[in-house]
Amino acid sequence: MAEINPENLKDILPDISEGVLSHKQLLSAVERRRNFAIISHPDAGKTTLTEKLLLYGGAIQQAGAVKARGEQRKVTSDWMELEKQRGISITSTVLQFDYDNITINLLDTPGHQDFSEDTYRTLAAADNAVMLEDAAKGLEPQTRKLFEVCKLRKIPIFTFINKMDRPGQEPISLLDEIESELNLSTYPVNWPIGSGDMFRGVIERDSKEVVLFKKAARGKQSIESRLKITDPSINDLVEKELLDKALEELELLEVAGCAMDIDLIRQGELTPVYFGSAMTNFGVRPFLDSFLHLAQGPVARNTNEGPIDPLRETFTGFVFKLQANMDPRHRDRVAFVRVCSGRFQKDMTVNHARTGKSIRLSRPQKIFAQDRAVVEDAYPGDVIGLNNPGMFAIGDTLYTGKKVEYEGIPCFSPEIFCWLRNPNPSAFKNFRKGVNELREEGAVQVLYDTDQSKRDPILAAVGQLQLEVVQHRLENEYSVETKVEAMGFQVARWVKGGWSSLDDIGRIFNCKTVQDSWQRPVLLFKNQWNLTQLEQDHPSLELTSVAPVVSGVNPITL
Ligand code: G4P
Repeated sequence: MAEINPENLKDILPDISEGVLSHKQLLSAVERRRNFAIISHPDAGKTTLTEKLLLYGGAIQQAGAVKARGEQRKVTSDWMELEKQRGISITSTVLQFDYDNITINLLDTPGHQDFSEDTYRTLAAADNAVMLEDAAKGLEPQTRKLFEVCKLRKIPIFTFINKMDRPGQEPISLLDEIESELNLSTYPVNWPIGSGDMFRGVIERDSKEVVLFKKAARGKQSIESRLKITDPSINDLVEKELLDKALEELELLEVAGCAMDIDLIRQGELTPVYFGSAMTNFGVRPFLDSFLHLAQGPVARNTNEGPIDPLRETFTGFVFKLQANMDPRHRDRVAFVRVCSGRFQKDMTVNHARTGKSIRLSRPQKIFAQDRAVVEDAYPGDVIGLNNPGMFAIGDTLYTGKKVEYEGIPCFSPEIFCWLRNPNPSAFKNFRKGVNELREEGAVQVLYDTDQSKRDPILAAVGQLQLEVVQHRLENEYSVETKVEAMGFQVARWVKGGWSSLDDIGRIFNCKTVQDSWQRPVLLFKNQWNLTQLEQDHPSLELTSVAPVVSGVNPITL
């Protein structure tokens, strides 16, 4: 008989001090959970769709509340003042609601494209993604970019083609575009009859029912009227040419289109497609029902010990996002943790993998947009907010029982680089605090000159707006006025082999060597051409645009 390792017993036996939870109870909690993020280009209707989904979940009483919440947020948080001025959304939050006995976690992502870095991190915590498209615009740049991240992680994608009440592209061309450009097979779950002013509803392929479109007043849940496709009364309700065209196209899909295949959906190779209109609330409930049926529950995630099953009895989770000063009255910092296995409980003592410290989590929060409530417990797929006195970094693992470390979250390559100057030496303490905290939060990447005498940090951002937010927050939250000075670089590459491989090749030209917070070399180039030149001159030098994941070390600070 194999010897029992007492370490492993911790995983097999429930820890009485943390409350006993049977395998059956955990299984039932895991089976009841679904978690997803919406990926879309600004203006496709993400806010509107979110609002309608929350309405069905009973999480809000009235449509318009998401925006109303937005307004409220704008008054309670001064750094979000910038959002108000610019009319954009740059923060992401988590929305949890129950529907049909399922607990849904919607990981909201910022709408502005300059904040795609934040979105990448949020997608690392999502099990499914809803790709929202405007029927008139089809695929747009931000959607394509975010899709690539989903593809890297092979997460199931559900496509909602929105704004069918407005003139749009032919449905067949919208599917073609997804198939050819994203290399993603499609399975339309329903098929539209007409579009724009002539939009009459959809035919559901599964039930062979026609769901008629009746424009509902904004904010009201539309009453769905359904009838069988064979019902003769349909001829009085829908123009013959429109119905014939839809039926012909459907026939074509039956013959030439992909078949429904749940395995391919789960592998991220086939996307179910739904046509609807979020604003008029058409097709949202059928979408939600079908989505909950097809979407995957919390999945096993990779660690240094291999994948961890969500049903592992002991709690594990990882930090995917940090946010400071959500509530300016308290100047607090929150770490968002995705629960990956076991049950999380209030007052639990967990281990922090990177530092080896144990921490009692006495004030875990459930964060609904800007509102918070203390959580008593949470399960795989859920997200909890922890007060972060500077201890947590993005990618950190928390665990009980046997030590594990989740795969970190990669940093994506920035494209804008500038010196951040502090013209007022007496404000240096605040400057340092602000830069360190915003870096920790991931608001911007910070690089440092290799020459120690140059103390000014280098801000590295994906978009210009990111820099504006950092300066705005430094001024409002840390009382330091700063100046940024462009450096003229556009491309960054991490050196895979570290400092030694750079030493091996000797002097290099047309690029600047700096270091990231983890003291790893980063090369900055003025343009792609200079990069290609270096790659040609030194084929042995391995460069990467995605920063290697770090674990087990602490970052350097200003
Ligand atoms: P976003 O979060 O993706 O940026 O988009 P948002 O929901 O704010 O929607 C962008 C605009 O598109 C809004 O109009 C919204 O009303 C409209 N919209 C969303 N879904 C539909 C739909 O199904 N049909 C039609 N016709 N329009 C839709 P807006 O004029 O910018 O704002 P508002 O004044 O309507 O709030």
